[in-house]
Amino acid sequence: MRTIKWQPSEIDEAADWLKKGEVVAFPTETVYGLGADATNESAVQKIYAAKGRPRDNPLIIHISSLSQMKEFVTEIPEKAELVMSHFWPGPCTIVLKKKGPLAQSVTNGLDTVGIRMPDHPVALSLIEKAGVPLAAPSANSSGKPSPTTAQHVINDLNGKISGVIDGGPTGVGLESTVLDLTDPKRPTILRPGGVSYEELTEVLGRVYIDGHLEDATQAPKSPGMKYRHYSPDKPVYILPVNGEQAAAIIEGLKNEGHQIGLLVSDQSLKFLRSKDTVVFSLGDKSKPSEAASRLYDGLRVLDQSEVTVILAEPYDSSGIGRAYMNRLEKAAEWLGQSL
Ligand code: TXA
Ligand code: MG
Repeated sequence: MRTIKWQPSEIDEAADWLKKGEVVAFPTETVYGLGADATNESAVQKIYAAKGRPRDNPLIIHISSLSQMKEFVTEIPEKAELVMSHFWPGPCTIVLKKKGPLAQSVTNGLDTVGIRMPDHPVALSLIEKAGVPLAAPSANSSGKPSPTTAQHVINDLNGKISGVIDGGPTGVGLESTVLDLTDPKRPTILRPGGVSYEELTEVLGRVYIDGHLEDATQAPKSPGMKYRHYSPDKPVYILPVNGEQAAAIIEGLKNEGHQIGLLVSDQSLKFLRSKDTVVFSLGDKSKPSEAASRLYDGLRVLDQSEVTVILAEPYDSSGIGRAYMNRLEKAAEWLGQSL
């Protein structure tokens, strides 16, 4: 597997691989994606194989121009036009009725497709040079936290893909918002992400949230949301908001012989840090976007350290905090409990 530097000639080479049906990882503003020609069935199948991704979990496609959109959806409702003009290029995926020459494995039997235009010069240049939309899930092994650096991609997929374009750390750090516009009267968030609920309601008026996101017993409309996601191997617990209670829990776990990994804000670090804890800062508590951009790296770093348990700080579920809490709860939920 090759690591490609971010230079025009090197992006040409990566685009050639894509045209030949190979898979290449590339940076976007959210997380690294694992791209393949979305119109080439055997190329798209390589994505599922490299990630170990369940076949019934559809992929989103990435485009570099608005004209490409018309080739792959039956119609573009007014609300989609609004989202595209306000948030593209950017971290919002729109789900619409599909048409055109998409490989079957992109959507796996669904009559809809998720599309977004990423806000990253490397991604846009790569899509343009490849001349086709790129099907691209996050470039992690299925079930692991999404990659926010080229090194994360290498750790997960070395030997399984042709290469990765190293564009440095991604900015947003969490995946795009998935917005279902197949019923334009009910714009529905299927996955919270880089464009917030509040931003969407400002532009669209009323926006719905898929019932599954509020009540986990309801079946999700976005197939990927049902999987155990974003999880490191070490157990993750969400700390209580109250600092005294958090400190007491840490003390209790230490007494049980645990090695503690703390994934908390700078403010909480001052209060909770003690001898023998491994710490990863989520940044300034008043800036949830810093926590969002650091969450996956923090989970990976602590997972690779000697800790036996990872304790993470909850944030307010507004703005980007909604996506942060969604991912953190998924990382923690397989234990079936939080502290
Ligand atoms: O930020 C992102 O969205 C990143 C970067 C690489 O663009 N990509 C990403 O892809 O997160 P992935 O495959 O890891 O997540 C796509 C989500 C999954 O939950 C999938 O089930 C859902 O979108 N999805 C894809 N197509 C869909 C469709 N037609 N209807 C409903 N949900 C869909
Ligand atoms: Mg993913």
